[in-house]
Amino acid sequence: MEIKITQKQKQFLQATEQEVLFGGAAGGGKSYGQLIDALLFAVKYQKSKQLILRRTYPELEKSIIRTSLELYPREIATYQSTGHIWKFQNGSVIEFGNCDTEQDVYKYQSAEYDIIRFDELTHFTKEMYTYLISRVRGTNGYPKQVKSSTNPGGVGHHWVKERFIDPMPPLTVYNSSAGSRIFIPSKVNDNVFLMKNDPEYSKRLKNLSKQDQKALLYGDWNLDEGAYFDEFKPEVHVIKPHKLNDSDRLYMSLDYGLDMLACYWYSVDTQGYVTVYRELYQPNLIIDDAAKAIKRAMKQHELERITSIFAPKDLWNRRQETGKSVMQRFAELGIYLERVSNGREAGWYEVKRYLRPQGDVFGNNRPKLQIFNTCRNLIRTLPAVRHDDKNPNDIANTPHELTHAPDALRYFCDGLPLPAEPLLDNKTNMLSFDDEMEEFNDFNGF
Ligand SMILES: Nc1ncnc2c1ncn2[C@@H]1O[C@H](COP(=O)(O)OP(=O)(O)O)[C@@H](O)[C@H]1O
Ligand SMILES: [Mg+2]
Repeated sequence: MEIKITQKQKQFLQATEQEVLFGGAAGGGKSYGQLIDALLFAVKYQKSKQLILRRTYPELEKSIIRTSLELYPREIATYQSTGHIWKFQNGSVIEFGNCDTEQDVYKYQSAEYDIIRFDELTHFTKEMYTYLISRVRGTNGYPKQVKSSTNPGGVGHHWVKERFIDPMPPLTVYNSSAGSRIFIPSKVNDNVFLMKNDPEYSKRLKNLSKQDQKALLYGDWNLDEGAYFDEFKPEVHVIKPHKLNDSDRLYMSLDYGLDMLACYWYSVDTQGYVTVYRELYQPNLIIDDAAKAIKRAMKQHELERITSIFAPKDLWNRRQETGKSVMQRFAELGIYLERVSNGREAGWYEVKRYLRPQGDVFGNNRPKLQIFNTCRNLIRTLPAVRHDDKNPNDIANTPHELTHAPDALRYFCDGLPLPAEPLLDNKTNMLSFDDEMEEFNDFNGF
């Protein structure tokens, strides 16, 4: 069997890092590279086990399984379509698997692989990836790797970018506490085979929307034109935790549903500058547990200092089972919500106003709102939400998971929070506040 590969495919085959991403334009030869790499590994290491994943079986069947049927030599391996598995004469296997829902990861709970390969990695969630890569293990002494291929875009665009693109330049090894990583970029013209056999391919891609062209034709990872909050910049808005001013006014806001409690704490200074200083982001909490989790996150005297806890008006709806609203139950548990009821668009506009950099009295060009880097989900989802296709003034409601934290932030911005009052009587007020804040900062590890 004679195999010809592209220069980039060769780099992918030779990469020895624990996590490798082959990413870029569609047609760059990534999936084909995966199949060749898997084949060579299976032949070289007898009784080795590999898993090739996509979210669904139809996606596998249409693409990578079909190509493997054309490519793999029947003299040394047979394909069993019921188990979606190639079995090699030397005992090696290459299995095709899917993982469509968060629950699907448990299908692989007791499995062990030498190599796991994600094709179209950005279609997967970070949770799926981190769970599944824990299945790479074994005592046979063979290399253990996670090798992925993908185009930019897709639900996982942001976490994949964060893991493989942002920390280091392409083709440069990044060593993290979780192991080594490398990103190998690919472009359509890297794939000499496609360029020769289908020279019109890249012209056809030019019919796509600007955004899709960027992702699929150029393999560009900066797709932020579609981002709703284009004013959000991690280097401007995300800051290290620091000690809060004891004179600041404190607020909270929350979005509550059974799918997610997203709760944020804000401190506002006398100039109206806001710091988002704490996040509580937890799914599957019934109301009582949600209220308990909120109280556990702070001390009683901090709760007493909070001016308002902004919440959406649907929490005022009476629930059939109990005859009470979420708001009422929270109040019974000592958490008093304040309703914000402006329209969504006006609310998003307020969030944008807070994010926009503006000069302060000291001549600093900082935005009205900054976020402690501990608020992981807010930082993750703010740049990820997109414009709604039908109403560009609103954000897209899918994937729904991305909307909880931005919604909670919207309730705060929409609630017209007030700046802190300047402390006139420094001596008396400052002293008592100081002690309290010392304790508060200790408690929060600032
Ligand atoms: N080394 C190669 N030899 C022959 N054909 C190749 C090679 N690499 C890629 N191709 C072909 O080029 C096309 C695009 O490759 P593919 O791997 O599907 O790209 P990607 O996954 O990056 O979108 C496919 O038809 C594939 O079979
Ligand atoms: Mg592909």
